[in-house]
Amino acid sequence: MCGITGYVGSRQVAPILVEALGYLEYRGYDSAGIAVLHDNKIDISRSIGKVSSLKFLVQQKKVEGQIGLGHTRWATHGQPSEKNAHPHSDCHGKIVVVHNGIIDGHMELKKVLENEGHIFSSQTDSEVLAHLIEKYYDGDLSVAVGKVLKNILGSYSLGVMHVDHPGLLVVARHQSPLLVGCGDNENFISSDIRAILSQTRRIIFLEDQEMASLTAKDIHIETIDGKKIDRKPHFVEESLEQSEKNGYDHFMLKEIFEQPTAIKRTLESRVFEDKKSGLLSVDMGFDEEEIKNIKNIVIVSCGTSWHAGLIARRYIEKLCKIPVSVEYAAEFRYNEPLIDRKTLVIGISQSGETADTLAAIREAKKYGSRIIALCNVVGSSLSREADRTIYTYAGPEIGVASTKAFTCQLTLLYLLALDLAYKNKQMDGDEVSKCIMKIQGITASIEKSLSTENLDKIKHISCKYSQSRNFLYLGRGSGFAIALEGALKLKEISYIHAEGYHAGEMKHGPIALIDKNMPVVVLALKGRRYDKILANIAEIKARDGKVIAIATEGDDAIVELTDEVIYVPDVDRFMTPLVAVIPLQLLSYYIAFQRNCDVDQPRNLAKSVTVE
Ligand code: M6R
Repeated sequence: MCGITGYVGSRQVAPILVEALGYLEYRGYDSAGIAVLHDNKIDISRSIGKVSSLKFLVQQKKVEGQIGLGHTRWATHGQPSEKNAHPHSDCHGKIVVVHNGIIDGHMELKKVLENEGHIFSSQTDSEVLAHLIEKYYDGDLSVAVGKVLKNILGSYSLGVMHVDHPGLLVVARHQSPLLVGCGDNENFISSDIRAILSQTRRIIFLEDQEMASLTAKDIHIETIDGKKIDRKPHFVEESLEQSEKNGYDHFMLKEIFEQPTAIKRTLESRVFEDKKSGLLSVDMGFDEEEIKNIKNIVIVSCGTSWHAGLIARRYIEKLCKIPVSVEYAAEFRYNEPLIDRKTLVIGISQSGETADTLAAIREAKKYGSRIIALCNVVGSSLSREADRTIYTYAGPEIGVASTKAFTCQLTLLYLLALDLAYKNKQMDGDEVSKCIMKIQGITASIEKSLSTENLDKIKHISCKYSQSRNFLYLGRGSGFAIALEGALKLKEISYIHAEGYHAGEMKHGPIALIDKNMPVVVLALKGRRYDKILANIAEIKARDGKVIAIATEGDDAIVELTDEVIYVPDVDRFMTPLVAVIPLQLLSYYIAFQRNCDVDQPRNLAKSVTVE
């Protein structure tokens, strides 16, 4: 994963790099480092842990210089340590490299280089790049980088500096994001827009197998084969404001509370009122002919976005009668998928940079399938590689645990199902309009779920169960997907083992785990499967398990059957996932808070998983 940044210009570079790394920290935070070129020397500062430790080190050292590279790391090869932190250099400290991605076959390359006399000082795959550039360097840095890139396999976004070229950064990308920020007599590079948005809004996105040579005044882009590319910068309007905590203890809590607004924004981006009929309608950009040709839909995604896919399958199959399968992106391309030109593939990703999801859609393209991206980050790799992108307008999601992106994904997937159903003649305009009105009402229901009374209750339950070692989450129908999501939220930020299971499957194994120490969160909402869920609750209680029920407002009877009840508003059956997930997000947040965990940046994780 990792994030990289760089600057060349006339200002002091260290604070610029450190500020950018702060924004990139969501991509990895086990170590960070910068390299600054000054007075014919490259000074490298690296520290284990978060960017704040690096900031302290850089301030102590009073690092000076006007050109440099920075990196924040999520360990793939080699444990988190100062030695394995980037930037990495060649044998003589003349070349430095920052790298995001994975170099395939780096062990073999390393052996060859060692036999040729190169001395390695880290366990990373990235260091190979510094030594390869050293090997191929013959006075022209960009030629050397191009030669290396033609001879390696793997993924990279890369920044390179050489002592002999004091005003030059050479950068490149392949399957890891990289963009160039254009300033006035200064230029920037970054893995992500927001990291340099306070410096410039003029952005050039590099494509796969492209490289750029940057000086303070010039940007020269070419393919790694040396073909010149003329590309104009985009003007990016995104605001940085949303990237602040605004008084909340954590981004995650802020993002949970932002959900009503984020959903409203997402709805407004796609819903229209017909002036004549007064009916509400939605347009996702499909035309009727295109829909006639869709034989099946395949959703590819990971983690929380995969859970959104599970719920989308229900929306699409029930409303549009088109068969849907939901695949783990990490498996998809190894499964010889049964897809073709009549398959619509939907890639769901908050970041649009998840390596597995990108690989899955690239695979689908080979079969001629049409690719739709459902994405939150404008300009991300997924959005640029898909045939079309439908954006969620959740705003920047900084907390590693996905919350508002998930509910916005569900909202948009529901609208997508309505649009398909209408154009597929499964629903008429009146029915679609009524459904849209219902989902518009969901923001008020979510606001209600975020009431102080509810928060107090959830905080109380969190205190009671925060020391539990295991949790089980059970649900049926879409409640099963929400059970998976609730369990994922809890384990990733509180480090408590939590398992999401289909309630009907409990008796086929997991019931053996139940005893008085096992809290079981049960999605017990009113609906077709309610009686079955009550039977599961009885089975848990008969074995002394502790039941925390997520129940429908007004269901007073459930109090007697369970240990704790958290109520959510009674909403349309398609909308229950949107309200049911809110208490689970809060429960995991407050449990992690109780346990003093690093809520926004849990250990071993990163916001975007940009490696396979
Ligand atoms: O950016 P994406 O939606 O593609 O990310 C997919 C997963 O990595 C992500 O949802 C992950 O599971 C979250 N940390 C869950 O909260």
